[in-house]
Amino acid sequence: MDTCPAELPALLEQLWQRLEAAASTANDPFRTPALATADNGQSATRIIVLREASAASHTLTAYSDARAPKVQQLRRDPRAQWLFFDPRTRVQIRASGTTAIHHGDDLARKTWEKVAPANRANYAASLPPGSEIAKPIFALPMPPDHDAGRNHFALIRATIDNLDWLELGEPHHRRAGFKWNGQAWSGHWLVP
Ligand SMILES: Cc1cc2nc3c(=O)[nH]c(=O)nc-3n(C[C@H](O)[C@H](O)[C@H](O)COP(=O)(O)O)c2cc1C
Repeated sequence: MDTCPAELPALLEQLWQRLEAAASTANDPFRTPALATADNGQSATRIIVLREASAASHTLTAYSDARAPKVQQLRRDPRAQWLFFDPRTRVQIRASGTTAIHHGDDLARKTWEKVAPANRANYAASLPPGSEIAKPIFALPMPPDHDAGRNHFALIRATIDNLDWLELGEPHHRRAGFKWNGQAWSGHWLVP
């Protein structure tokens, strides 16, 4: 964050504004966070694209193939953490929450219509993501039909209840934590 507010409520507001802006800004470092899930006691982390952030509903949304291991992990254990880092401002945000998978529902159907044709192929592999194949070309849908991804397309939507913000600054680092208690956020400054 370029100019970090001195007050916690203003910082929280700016934090969400940054995430909302990042979701629609190509090359914004916050647009490609790491998503951490639990896989039977083992942590599993990968980069995803932040497709939407909403301060009003305090949700973060990504798209995936419903057959992907991350989606299976989230179905088993919906707690997840999103890790954002902006090297320009040296701000790290950890956002934790409970995830809903939207697959084959109204939201998934409506969102699919907005997915650019070039991106539809990402969900159209004939075999599930992570399957072993003899050659990379075997991952492509046969015949090449980008609409084949419609049935696999899923949204990963987390309702965030915990935020940890850290800024590596000069001369001081600053850190704040925010918790959602079901009705409102409460914030505290933390030792970095
Ligand atoms: C820059 C970048 C963006 C990515 N975006 C997504 C994404 O939005 N959704 C997704 O499912 N996978 C995305 N991936 C691929 C995942 O990082 C991951 O490697 C792959 O989906 C396998 O994850 P899983 O086996 O844990 O399900 C992206 C990878 C990179 C490098």
